[in-house]
Amino acid sequence: MILVVGGAGYIGSHVVKQLREAQLPHLVFDNLSSGHRASVGDSPFVVGDLRSRSDLDEVFDTHPIDVVMHFAAHISVGESVREPAKYFENNTVGVLTLLESMRAYKVKQFVFSSTAAVFGEPEHLPIEEEHSKHPTSPYGTSKLMVEQMLSAFDHAYGLHAVVLRYFNAAGAARDGTIGEDHHPEEHLIPLAIAAATGRRGELRVFGTDYPTPDGTCVRDYVHVEDLADAHLRAAKYLRDGGVSREFNLGNGHGFSVREVIDTVSRVVGQQVPYQEADRRPGDPAQLIASSDRARSELGWTPRYPELATIVGDAWRWHERHPQGYGDN
Ligand SMILES: NC(=O)c1ccc[n+]([C@@H]2O[C@H](COP(=O)([O-])OP(=O)(O)OC[C@H]3O[C@@H](n4cnc5c(N)ncnc54)[C@H](O)[C@@H]3O)[C@@H](O)[C@H]2O)c1
Repeated sequence: MILVVGGAGYIGSHVVKQLREAQLPHLVFDNLSSGHRASVGDSPFVVGDLRSRSDLDEVFDTHPIDVVMHFAAHISVGESVREPAKYFENNTVGVLTLLESMRAYKVKQFVFSSTAAVFGEPEHLPIEEEHSKHPTSPYGTSKLMVEQMLSAFDHAYGLHAVVLRYFNAAGAARDGTIGEDHHPEEHLIPLAIAAATGRRGELRVFGTDYPTPDGTCVRDYVHVEDLADAHLRAAKYLRDGGVSREFNLGNGHGFSVREVIDTVSRVVGQQVPYQEADRRPGDPAQLIASSDRARSELGWTPRYPELATIVGDAWRWHERHPQGYGDN
C-alpha cells in the first residue's frame, strides 16, 4: 500500500486520482493546511500532521505501507525568505520525523517531491540532474537538505528514494474534476486566468528586460497529469528493486511569461490585463529541464507538452469551479 503524504494538495491529488484509476491500494495522509478534502474523492483518508511522530506511527502500525510518496510542504519561495523557520520546520524537520517513523516500521521506499529551486541560477541549459546546486531561497535549501538526508539514509539504513524535481507544475485533470487551488495563489497560469476573468486585478509581469526572446522569464511548464504519471512509474521502479535516483521533470522546452499571457487570453477568450514591473531578486531568466534520464530510465514521456493543452485544462477546471474547492 502506498502512503500519500500531502495527497490532498494540488499535485498529490492528481497522483491520488491516478492511483485510484489504476486500482493501486493507497492511503492519503494530510493535515489539510493547504489541501482540500474534496480533491481526493473517495480515496481512504487520514487527517494527520507530518510533524507528529504519533500520527505517523499510528498509520504505519495499522496499514501495510511499503512505499511513501511525500508531497507535504510549504511552497512559497517569497514566504520562505521572510519566514525561513516555518520552512525548515515543515519541509526538512518534518521529513526527518517521517523518515524516522518509516525506519521504525521498516518501510524503505520513498518518492520525494523536490524542485527546480534546488539548482538556483542555472549555469547552462537544459538543466540535467548533475547540474550544480546553489539554491537562492530557504525553500530551495529546505528541499536540497532533504535530498542530502535521503542519500545519507540510503547509505546508512538502506532507504531507497526517488527524488522527482518538478519544474513548473501546471494544468488540471483532463476530465475537469480536480485542479489547482492555492491560497494565496502564486502560480502564473491560475493568476492569469483570474486576471482575465476579472476575479483579480491586473497581473504583474516581473521583468521585461531579461536576455530572452521577448524579454520576460522563460519557465518549463509540465502538465500535472504528466507529473502524476511519473509518480506511478517511480513507485513501480522502486518496487522492482530500483536504487536511489534523482530525476528532473519538465517538458524540455520553455514558455515565456508573454507566451503564457497570450495563450491564456486566447483560451479564455478575454485579454489578460497586466502591468510591467521590475525584476524580482533571485528569478533566473530561464529554467528549462533536461528530462532525458526520466525518459530513458522510467520510460516517462510528457503526453501533454503543448502550452495550449496545459492552459486549456487549467481553464476547464477554473471555469467549472470559479470558487475553487470553496473550503478556504
Ligand atoms: N506546484 C509546483 O509547481 C511545484 C514545483 C516544484 C515542487 N513542488 C513540490 O511539490 C509538492 C506539492 O506541491 P503542491 O503545489 O501540490 O502544494 P500544495 O500546497 O497544494 O500541497 C501540499 C499538501 O501538503 C499538506 N501539508 C502541508 N504540511 C503538512 C503537514 N505538516 N502535515 C500533513 N500535511 C501537510 C497540505 O495540506 C497540502 O495538501 C511540494 O512539496 C512542493 O514543494 C511543487
